[in-house]
Amino acid sequence: MTLTSTHTRLIDLLPTRVSDDNGLAQDVMQGLSQSPKKLSSRFFYDAKGSQLFQQIMQLPEYYLTKLEHQILEKQRKEILFAMDTHTPFQLVDLGAGDAYKTKLLLAELVASKADFSYVPLDISDDQLNLLLEDLHHRLPKLPVQALAAEYFQGLEWLNQNQRQRKVVLFLGSNIGNFDLEEARNFLCTLRQSLNPEDAFLLGLDLRKDPEKMRRAYADAAGVTSAFNLNLLHRINKELQADFDLDQFQHFAEYDPLEGTMRSFLISKINQKVHIEAIGQTFSFEAWEAIHTENSYKFSLRQVEEMAGACGFRVQDVFTDPSHGFADVLLRPV
Ligand code: AVJ
Repeated sequence: MTLTSTHTRLIDLLPTRVSDDNGLAQDVMQGLSQSPKKLSSRFFYDAKGSQLFQQIMQLPEYYLTKLEHQILEKQRKEILFAMDTHTPFQLVDLGAGDAYKTKLLLAELVASKADFSYVPLDISDDQLNLLLEDLHHRLPKLPVQALAAEYFQGLEWLNQNQRQRKVVLFLGSNIGNFDLEEARNFLCTLRQSLNPEDAFLLGLDLRKDPEKMRRAYADAAGVTSAFNLNLLHRINKELQADFDLDQFQHFAEYDPLEGTMRSFLISKINQKVHIEAIGQTFSFEAWEAIHTENSYKFSLRQVEEMAGACGFRVQDVFTDPSHGFADVLLRPV
């Protein structure tokens, strides 16, 4: 545990060193041994990857951040009112990142003298340190308790150590990285750690013109490509591998039947890659794909059904004028 100042602290529940097992070796071993090959998108976010994702959020094509920012900016008063922010609470931000959107809510809450503390939770402790620093300057009086943890590890820690009412945020359509069954499991597990008076605000990218969605994941400047390829760079660094990044190509495609944006790294040639840390060499055929990410797009009907199955009711749906994105306020039933 690290105390950073009187108002802020960082509690680190993660393995402390890169050499500790963060699951990457096992994911790579399993994912590259199977056909089709895959790697898990949760490993995108090392320091470099988190930085590239912040650049993605600023891209003209990446509409998700813009739409959600617009929703939170225009409707922040209604959203906060609906979450009962006049009674004391902890604002738990799952996958907070740089909290670009949450800051809109934080500023409003501080201005209205709400009785709350902010609990950003993220798997990148680098990100959290930057965020603590930033919040210390912007909102010096805000009590912040950052948790470097996996989602449920963090929630469990909160339940064991502090018993305050929780308002949980899961913004940015982060839930879209799960497949539908995992998303349902996520909602049901989250429901278990909430009490009847708690609230949950869930950000979801909605189905829309496939061309618009595809452009968001294949931007003209190539930032998403760099973000995807950084996964191979991370494996080179952390597992002493020899991926040649020039011999792989980013490709993203929307499947309108499943509602999934899928991202791949495609081998441009026949090649072998050696990964020292797991003592394995993997062969890639020319144009063979590694599936690296799903970014699921939802329909509101589906969300209602899924939330209902886990013991939530939909209290409010906040959307932008184009109905491209939604922040859904869920309550335990
Ligand atoms: C952070 C998971 C919401 O899927 O849209 C952005 C990550 N991947 N561009 C998304 C991402 C490629 C992003 N999420």
